[in-house]
Amino acid sequence: MTSVSEPVAQPTIRQTDCFIDGQWQPSQSGKTFETRHPANEEVITQIAEGDAADVDLAVKAARDAFDNGPWRSMDARERGEMLHRLADLIEEEIDELAALETLDNGKPINDARNVDLPLTIDCLRYYAGYADKVHGQTIPVRGNYFTYTRKEPVGVVGQIIPWNFPMLMVAWKWGPALAAGCTIVMKPAEQTPLTCLRMARLAQKAGIPDGVINVVPGFGPTAGSAVTKHPGIDKVAFTGEYLTAQTIMAEAAPTLKRLTFELGGKSPNVIFADADLDAAIAGSHFGLYFNQGQCCCAGSRVFVEESIHDEFIGRVTEMNQATQVGDPFDPLTTQGPQVDQNQMDKILQYVEAGKSGGATCVTGGNRIGDTGYFVEPTLFDGVTDEMDIATDEIFGPVMSVLTFKDMDELVERANNTFYGLAAAVWTRDIGKAHHVADHVRAGTVWVNCYDVFDAAAPFGGFKMSGQGRELGEAGLNAYLETKTVTIALD
Ligand code: NAI
Ligand code: MG
Repeated sequence: MTSVSEPVAQPTIRQTDCFIDGQWQPSQSGKTFETRHPANEEVITQIAEGDAADVDLAVKAARDAFDNGPWRSMDARERGEMLHRLADLIEEEIDELAALETLDNGKPINDARNVDLPLTIDCLRYYAGYADKVHGQTIPVRGNYFTYTRKEPVGVVGQIIPWNFPMLMVAWKWGPALAAGCTIVMKPAEQTPLTCLRMARLAQKAGIPDGVINVVPGFGPTAGSAVTKHPGIDKVAFTGEYLTAQTIMAEAAPTLKRLTFELGGKSPNVIFADADLDAAIAGSHFGLYFNQGQCCCAGSRVFVEESIHDEFIGRVTEMNQATQVGDPFDPLTTQGPQVDQNQMDKILQYVEAGKSGGATCVTGGNRIGDTGYFVEPTLFDGVTDEMDIATDEIFGPVMSVLTFKDMDELVERANNTFYGLAAAVWTRDIGKAHHVADHVRAGTVWVNCYDVFDAAAPFGGFKMSGQGRELGEAGLNAYLETKTVTIALD
């Protein structure tokens, strides 16, 4: 992959309004909100602040595009071609889009350029290939009847996404929805609306008909809640905090919407003494600190077998000391700022809870400077199961290290959480790897690797980490209804 090695040009801000029925328009209220660059806290631009009135217009457009438009009835292969064109257009602007993502989110430019963008493009291409491969079945039934099923789009979908991978979350949501023939009302996160709005422009350029994709920027309790409650929306797909999902589930109850959730985690990452330690330590460091620790699947409970504990702590300490924290546009930076003040404050509160709870803060623990939301890479040793830093999602560059002696104890402790998003195990012993993979209650298990994502591999949570799956065929099915047709053959 091309790595960015020269200073990056500041991206141009082009879209800041609501995108409804193919038109760029200010919010009905005329209100706007600020989006800031997390590294210097400066306002980048004002964005239209959508609310219930804008969501209502967006739903009307999406409803019309679904019920009367050509979208769901057109040749499915043509839908796939438009998705391919969207992926191509993103690829043509890859450097500018990566810079836009770094500006809005604060992630290091090399991560945006070499992780977020390629995964975004790959996801859209993967689902482009599905558009004309949505098959029903023929079903033998009793009597003289011919019965078959059709897989039909679920309808108008509301999609509410977070700020940690803004563009990639758009691809995870749009890809399967568009392949299935759904139409969309999306609410991007208030911290990071810019790349979503740019993608809406590119979707229009790719030929996706007006009204199929609508974007209403704004805040959760207003614009987001309006999406959840709107009777014209058939399904809501949400990624974010479990507490928000609980609100969405309650507010969606009167209209019995289909719901899929991809929520947080406190994922156990287990390192046995017999593992390839170079790989295990590098992978565990990446699995927690990548993206400033702002990953739903972060390996934030690191269980280390006792005999390798000292070596593990020593080497993670060295790696943290070598981390280049700073300007995310500097190609040498490996850790940028947290996304906003709230997230930084939450992380620093957890650091205090870790210290007062009796854990040892080996590295970091402080804000860096007083401008920008920078937090030192932080390592806690001597963490025990009941401490806040071992139970709660911190969503920051804070690793909690626990030790274990034997495997049965380990599995029970790994499962002692209401989360169940991901887990990892590092060992050369295939038996141990299988045992952990079989017994851990989590939607994804990585063996001798971490954060390996592929558009074809389903992702989602057990327990309170989610409902349903994204990506792969499972992700497509979440946008389809099954219709059964029975014909008398007399
Ligand atoms: P959040 O769940 O509040 O926000 C995610 C999205 O939901 C945003 O677009 C937001 O505007 C929207 N939203 C918020 N309240 C809503 C409501 N009542 N109805 C409809 N939509 C609503 O997450 P937030 O506040 O940004 O972060 C809080 C914590 O959540 C983080 O510290 C982290 O622990 C977790 N989180 C997990 C993510 C994941 O990838 N699973 C992503 C972001 C946050
Ligand atoms: Mg929130």
